[in-house]
Amino acid sequence: MDTTTISHIGEKAGGSATVQGWLYNRRSSGKIQFLIVRDGTGYLQAVVPRADVPAEVWEAAERASQECSLRVTGTVREEKRAPGGYEMSAQSVEILGPSEGYPITPKEHGVDFLMNLRHLWMRSSQQHAVLRVRSEIEQAIRDFFYRREFTLIDSPILTGSAVEGTSTLFETDYFGDKAYLSQSGQLYLEPAAAAFGKVYCFGPTFRAEKSKTRRHLTEFWMIEPEVAFLRFEGLVELAEDLIVTVMGRVLERCQEDLKRLERDTKKLEAIQKPFPRITYREAVQKLAALGFSVKFGDDLGADEETALAKDLDRPLVVSRFPAAIKSFYMQPDPEDPEVVLGLDMLAPEGYGEIIGGSERIYDLALLEKRIEEHELPRDAYEWYLDVRRFGTFPHSGFGMGLERFVAWACGIHHLREAIPYPRTLKRIYP
Ligand code: 4AD
Ligand code: MG
Repeated sequence: MDTTTISHIGEKAGGSATVQGWLYNRRSSGKIQFLIVRDGTGYLQAVVPRADVPAEVWEAAERASQECSLRVTGTVREEKRAPGGYEMSAQSVEILGPSEGYPITPKEHGVDFLMNLRHLWMRSSQQHAVLRVRSEIEQAIRDFFYRREFTLIDSPILTGSAVEGTSTLFETDYFGDKAYLSQSGQLYLEPAAAAFGKVYCFGPTFRAEKSKTRRHLTEFWMIEPEVAFLRFEGLVELAEDLIVTVMGRVLERCQEDLKRLERDTKKLEAIQKPFPRITYREAVQKLAALGFSVKFGDDLGADEETALAKDLDRPLVVSRFPAAIKSFYMQPDPEDPEVVLGLDMLAPEGYGEIIGGSERIYDLALLEKRIEEHELPRDAYEWYLDVRRFGTFPHSGFGMGLERFVAWACGIHHLREAIPYPRTLKRIYP
């Protein structure tokens, strides 16, 4: 059977076409039924006039209930007012799979109810739009690194070494030994940078986050570049370029989805280089002036981050944090050894930290000392130390949280809607 996807229905204008999909919505005047059919690529209004179709076609249209699967055939014409810009005069309507009592109705439902039905909820127009934007963002990220001649190095999910502290590790039994789910691919990318120069990984990462916030998932996707001989300034520029390029691509290719999400695209158009910068020391002063009780050595929480980025129309780069509040591998600033050459990029509109990264320690003795200070099991890091034993080199990298970027691009409040099947403290179903 020659079927057409709705995204290509325009090519059939003036002729006949068959579309297969699900019933999104219907209206009826008694004499005419309007079936809105969706097939994942778009929405098409099929018009069924009682006077012009055989009785069984009219009855099938009447029987069609929300989210039943169906096949409709008819003539296609341009119709500016219809969703998608085309309309079909149906000659045949065939129900393929009924859908009695579809649980998600046009009335308001609570988020928990909808999250329990996540497998169905993704058919709804706004959720569908978010996940399409996510898909475009993932492709744009891959294209960005491909064009810059990075090599993709897939890092393992099962690992023996912690990257971002030991408090958020998911532990699992590995044939009688302990293994962890990866918190970040970074440690595996650093050796790869010595083999390939410019590398990145892009995969799921896991953190046993016991905090219940709108910005934390226990399983999230991270994009991580790592570059040999790249210094801190170059790292900040790479992060800026990635964000500006990917946001530009969302604006170019996702207008329809952004409209459905009622996203204010002016806010996204403002995301241009250069991004404002502030050091941690300056940030502490600024926060103190705003009435926060923070001092050098304190970590910046969500409220502090929001306050710093509040009046900005683009991300804020915060750099040079005290070593004590950052990960073990960060390179000290030669001009201010109390702080490290690390950066956090804070998105505007309260989306918080979207990127974290740093120059890496490349001196063997210093790295060994840090592993000891952080009370990490030295044995698990011997292989990692080899990068410093055999041809050590300055290098830098960062990690960008995919769901934070998606939530920001789409203007949605909570990260759980930025991933197809969210995992949080209280959720592993469905
Ligand atoms: O700042 P983080 O912890 O950095 C790292 O993991 C480095 N090893 C990355 C690197 O340098 N290669 O995490 C990086 C980013 C954060 O900025 C945030 O966007 C996201 O990952 N992220 C989370 N996103 C959702 N849920 C969580 N629980 C997240 N934790 C971090
Ligand atoms: Mg961080």
